Amino acid sequence: MTSRSPRAPRAKPAPEDAQVPREGIVTKTRAAATAAASSHEAPARKPRAGRPPSAPLAATVTPARAHLASVRGPLLDWYDRNKRDLPWRRTRDPYAIWLSEVMLQQTQVSTVIPYWERFLARFPTARALTSAPLDDVLAGWKGLGYYSRARNLHRAAQEVVARFGGTLPSTAAELLELPGFGRYTAGAVASIAFGEEAPLVDGNVARVFSRIFEVEGLPGDRQREATLWALAAALVKGERPGDFNQALMEHGATTCRPENPLCLLCPVRGACVAFRKGRVDELPPAKVRATPKKLTLAVAVWPHAGTLLFARRADAGLFGGLWELPAAEIADDAPDSEARARLSAALGVDVSLEGALGTVKRQLTHRDLSLRLLRVSGPRRPASTPAFQELRWCSPDDAGKLGMSTAMQRALDIALGAGVLPGG
Ligand code: ADE
Repeated sequence: MTSRSPRAPRAKPAPEDAQVPREGIVTKTRAAATAAASSHEAPARKPRAGRPPSAPLAATVTPARAHLASVRGPLLDWYDRNKRDLPWRRTRDPYAIWLSEVMLQQTQVSTVIPYWERFLARFPTARALTSAPLDDVLAGWKGLGYYSRARNLHRAAQEVVARFGGTLPSTAAELLELPGFGRYTAGAVASIAFGEEAPLVDGNVARVFSRIFEVEGLPGDRQREATLWALAAALVKGERPGDFNQALMEHGATTCRPENPLCLLCPVRGACVAFRKGRVDELPPAKVRATPKKLTLAVAVWPHAGTLLFARRADAGLFGGLWELPAAEIADDAPDSEARARLSAALGVDVSLEGALGTVKRQLTHRDLSLRLLRVSGPRRPASTPAFQELRWCSPDDAGKLGMSTAMQRALDIALGAGVLPGG
């Protein structure tokens, strides 16, 4: 087992390292790759502007067959003995498997299980999902975050019904044409649900490959991505491609972990270049994360006759299509007068401020979100406004059925807790 120390800056490989065979990986220039015409070549990419014509363009890899074999078999055996008993592994239903893969993107298995079960009970088929209003779908997604995934799921289900009679197409190439399907989801569904030898790379797989095959480069680097996908394409060929892809992800999630990897329990330790060279802690290099930007919103809490005003955001952008207590962006240090002006403009009514109710702070992936809750009233009640898709006056019970972000749900709880609705 290796203990993970803080990452030291990684020594830059010498430029010529990229050209020599290295533990089963040969990195080739594009010209050599084209000549090789191997089935697992990385796709060619356009030359970048300004690059000298003789410079290497794209690279691909040819892992040695023996190295591939020393990974594939043992990993599949390990999976058979150690896989977690997850509910989507007990079904062959492509729709249910698709749903699990969408939910599992950026969300942990333990969080996903109850959502997956509830969502599937409510929308058991692509056809059932299609018949449901988007609002109901977003409400079923509430708490999972990344709501564009739910919107795409709904749109893709519509296409599945319209174009394929309600049954998901069975190849990665066809799946890729559906909304929300990228290479990962297409590979996962095609291999797991339909047994296609379709590759996939997610964060776990990228880490596993980086270590076993000593793949260099920062996350997001195009050449690194091409190398990872080429490895995935080469390795998935063979028996049980869906199980093999799951074995890779499972191994990354449970053993080849980002921190404190369990190298002594690793079924492919003998094939792992990073283990042999003592580089497990360095590979892959840590992502350099941009500091999240501040986003401050003034939030209108407008009570009327046992209801509050709710607004549905435009489809594009953060929290697109979700419901909220009407919100407008303000500067972080904006005085209440600015908040009042922005809310008035968004609602198309000159609102008055009746008091501050508190602030909700939430850390999103790319944003430091701050919701400043302001109780408001107005000379007339707006029915629609260009700033929002829809306005609705709802009781707290009805609001509970709307698709709302976790931050906005918290804002609503605070407003109700402050007693803005008599008896509420
Ligand atoms: N992560 C995403 N999908 C997965 C799967 N099917 N098995 C293991 N980990 C996963």
